[in-house]
Amino acid sequence: MTKSTILTGLRANNDLTIGNYFGAILPMIDMAKQKSTDYQINMFIPDLHSFTTPINHEELYDHIIHNARLFAAAGLPLDNDNIHIYRQSYIPAHSELTWILDCFTGFGEMSRMTQFKDKSGSIGSDRTSVGLFNYPVLMAADILLYNAEYIPVGDDQTQHLEFARDIAERMNTRFGDIFTVPKPVKEQHEFFGKDQGLRIKDLQDPSKKMSKSDESGKGVIFLGDDPSLAAKKIMSATTDDKAEIHYDKTNQPGISNLLEILALLRDVPKDQVVKEFEGQNLYGDFKRVVASEVESFLYEFQKRLAETNDYLIHAKLESSERAVSQTANATLLRAQQAVGLRPKELS
Ligand code: TRP
Repeated sequence: MTKSTILTGLRANNDLTIGNYFGAILPMIDMAKQKSTDYQINMFIPDLHSFTTPINHEELYDHIIHNARLFAAAGLPLDNDNIHIYRQSYIPAHSELTWILDCFTGFGEMSRMTQFKDKSGSIGSDRTSVGLFNYPVLMAADILLYNAEYIPVGDDQTQHLEFARDIAERMNTRFGDIFTVPKPVKEQHEFFGKDQGLRIKDLQDPSKKMSKSDESGKGVIFLGDDPSLAAKKIMSATTDDKAEIHYDKTNQPGISNLLEILALLRDVPKDQVVKEFEGQNLYGDFKRVVASEVESFLYEFQKRLAETNDYLIHAKLESSERAVSQTANATLLRAQQAVGLRPKELS
């Protein structure tokens, strides 16, 4: 029996925060490692998705490779044959299946996509690319080509996943079994486990999420930050005037955030750090502990990133690309046969 496939896009950019790292990247890598004995794991860099809105094309290729390095530095194994890591644009079937699916997708259906409405609304219709409009169809092709059943997606992507299910069912109803229909969103959540609600907060304003779009950058720690600067950001984090450390998100959101950050950096349960610092009253001392952990974490991470081996990374990408092409091309052929582009019986 062939294994079910778990598939996910590895989206990263150059200004990831420790919030992205602990909240998204590490959990994804853990999931891949844990499930790789029983499932085929397909992780890909969605490079064709990366310029639906304008970017600097001089930098695109470097970004793609940097993206792979980043995941490798974060611990994604390059030597596990059950985990494929590939670049979307290296598998032409993604583009080809997209076109076929496009012709069975309603204009209205795409117009109703929330992410499209949000993104296009702010830039005006002449500057909105057809690629942005079309993005969910490409995403459906990404999934359906590999018969993937499980796709971990955040809330902003559930509508796109629903579309992938709809178009798969629509094509299967019309043409017979071409595609594996991905599991419904509810089953995806059951399968991947509930989101822990892990959200590192902004250091200056702990009522909001730590986000790379924060303007001053003072409340945000980027993976690329100079470690000593990051330590300073911790030292100047907003706290409160209670002068006693408690994990109390409502009344002491700043202190609680620092406790959570410390637990993540040390990779221990939150309760353990809470126990260690509970009731202490020198915030400065506590902050110094967190600051020095942040500093050494960044130092280590940046060192690992600098030491990633490009030869191994390229070898992995290329071997994965060879392996996944076979599945992708087989699915594409089924779709081509179904719509009459290829004869039903191939000699
Ligand atoms: N759209 C996803 C995101 O913005 C990335 C992505 C592209 C993806 N194709 C996918 C995720 C297929 C899962 C499956 O995060």
